[in-house]
Order: sequence, then structure tokens, then C-alpha cells
Amino acid sequence: MKAISALYEAQKIIFSPFIFQAVYSMSELGILDALNNSKSGLSFVEISEQTNVSKYGVTVLVEMAESAGIVDEIAPGKFLLSKIGYFILRDEMTQVNMKFTQDVCYNGLFFLKDAITDGSPKGLKVFGDWKTVYEGLSKLPTEVKKSWFDFDHFYSDNSFSDALPIIFKNRPKLIFDIGGNTGKWAIASTNFDSDVQVKIFDLPGQLSVAKATIEKNDTIKNRISFQEIDVLNPTSVIPGGADVYWMSQFLDCFSEYEIESILLKIKANASPNSTIYIMETFLDNQVFPAAKLSLAATSLYFTAIANGNSRMYSSRTLKYIIEKAGLKCINEYNLHQDSFHTILEVKLV
Ligand SMILES: C[S@@+](CC[C@H](N)C(=O)[O-])C[C@H]1O[C@@H](n2cnc3c(N)ncnc32)[C@H](O)[C@@H]1O
Repeated sequence: MKAISALYEAQKIIFSPFIFQAVYSMSELGILDALNNSKSGLSFVEISEQTNVSKYGVTVLVEMAESAGIVDEIAPGKFLLSKIGYFILRDEMTQVNMKFTQDVCYNGLFFLKDAITDGSPKGLKVFGDWKTVYEGLSKLPTEVKKSWFDFDHFYSDNSFSDALPIIFKNRPKLIFDIGGNTGKWAIASTNFDSDVQVKIFDLPGQLSVAKATIEKNDTIKNRISFQEIDVLNPTSVIPGGADVYWMSQFLDCFSEYEIESILLKIKANASPNSTIYIMETFLDNQVFPAAKLSLAATSLYFTAIANGNSRMYSSRTLKYIIEKAGLKCINEYNLHQDSFHTILEVKLV
């Protein structure tokens, strides 16, 4: 890379909060839509007329977007959305990531350096006085909560249909869904198999949301039960009796040491016939650079806002912890060639 290009890239990084806020505003104010709907390009005045945003507002936003490659000036004073701008507007993953960044992370990330030096989620104070985001999840402002759940569900829901045949290959009768959140997996799996029973383990706030949703569903509600647990409480117990212990996007909420202690809690009571399935998006299993970058960013959300000590892991690290806990990873399923998700099948040795 030539020095002049490196200097340009450096400015894009340094001014990235400006670029992000400009793009977010353009998305919310309908400017990206207007630019996308035009065939021959729009002037500042035309954009202003179509969106009811002042000409001044349109000018400063579009000039930033043009400098950052989100908008192209196709003729003097005429602008169209670039391919990058199109993906910001239309790609679902990008939209989910943008809302999550703005609503959940933006203010808290200001405290990232403090979070790193202190080892605690210093940015969480923008929402409340909790030790982890999970304690406060059900109490977050509505928009923030929506963006959090949209982000969480986008990355797990899409994988459930591929995960179900793997988890059900030995027809489990009882599944413990640890960190079952709003019950999406419990609903998907009881719909998939008409005999299976699922017990959701989670913190009280999340369990009450799951209960409220599941109680409305007469066909499955009798096969789903609930157990409050704080897996970080040293006295908490994960009981035996399940054929499958299912943890989807759960272990990334904890430090390496905490993951080992959770696995040991399962091992203490599980039978050798039971199987532990861990579904994660691993850094080292990603095909696309966009996915890898999203995961690295998600780690910083954990650092600054969620809990201060967890991250998105590589499969290598998780397998090391599994072995350290005296368990054995017997299979690894990459859900698609280009999938974000991997399932590790783990047994007691
Ligand atoms: C990222 S969400 C994953 C939810 C779901 N399994 C999925 O695949 O979408 C993590 C879940 O772990 C739960 N959790 C976090 N810390 C916990 C703790 N200390 N004890 C029990 N559950 C916890 C959260 O409440 C949340 O529901």
C-alpha cells in the first residue's frame, strides 16, 4: 500500500465514529432509500425535497458518505448509492449490526479502555448499575432491548433448522437448554419432535419472558419447563438426567475459567450416555472476512458492555477448555460451507 492510501485508510479509521453516525442518520432519515431509488442520481436539493431534511443536513451527511465510499458522485452535484451503500441499506446482517452498534454499544464503547484496564464492563453504566448485561436485559429501554434481541436472534435463529437434525439424530427424550433465553430453541425443538421435553435454564428476567411466550402455545407448553439458575454462582447446580445438554451461543458469555467451571457443573451430574452440544460462531471457522470482523467487534461488546471478560472464541480455545474439564470433543459439525456456526459434540470420557 502506498503511503498516501495508508494515510487515507488511517483517517477512515480515526473518523469512523463520524462515518458511522452519518450513515446511521442517513438510514434513519430516508436518505439512503432516496439515493437507492434514483436511476440518474440526485442533487442535494432533490434529496432534501424527497426526505424533508434541510439542504444543510443533506449536504454534510452526503459529503461525509461520499468521502467514505458509501455514495458516488456520478456527475457534478449528482449522487447515487455505491455498492457499499446498497449493502448498508439492504443487507440484513449489516442492518442488524448497525442497530446493535447504535442502540446497544455506541455510548458504552466510550469506556472500552477503562473496561480493558479494569476487567469489568465499564460501559454498562450507560444503562444501569448491573454486574453484567444479562442481569439487566429484561429492563433495558425498549429500543435497546429490541436491537439486542434482533442481534442475538439473527445469529442463532438462522442456524436452528440446520442444528435440529444433528441434535435429534439419537432421538433425545429430555434436553436441557442452558442459557435458553426467550425460548426460541425450546419452541423449535418441541415443534421438531413431538415427544421431546425441554427444560430451559436461565436467569429469572429471561425465564419470565420465555414463560410468557410459551404459555400461549398450547401444543408445546406441557413439554417445556423452566429452571432459574445463575451458573456463575459457585453453589448453583446443573442437574443430571438430560439426554442432551444444549448450549447455543452461551459459553461465549463467559471467561475461559468460567466456561471450565460450567462444563464441570454439567460433568458432575451428567451420565456417560448424555451428550453435550455446544453451538458457537468460532473465529477460526469463518469463511468470509465480514463474518470474522463482526465476531471481533462482538468481542469488544462483551468487553465494554456485557461482562468485561468474555469474547468470541476460536474452536481451538474451546476444545482446549473442554479437554481441561476432562471432557472429550468427539465430533465437529460446520453447519454450512459458508456458515457462521459450528456445533461441537462432547462426551464424558
Ligand atoms: C447470547 S444469549 C444466547 C441465547 C440462546 N441460547 C441463543 O442461542 O440465542 C446468552 C444467554 O445466557 C444467559 N446467561 C448469561 N449469564 C448467565 C448466568 N450467569 N446464568 C444463567 N444464564 C446466563 C443470558 O440470560 C442469555 O439468555
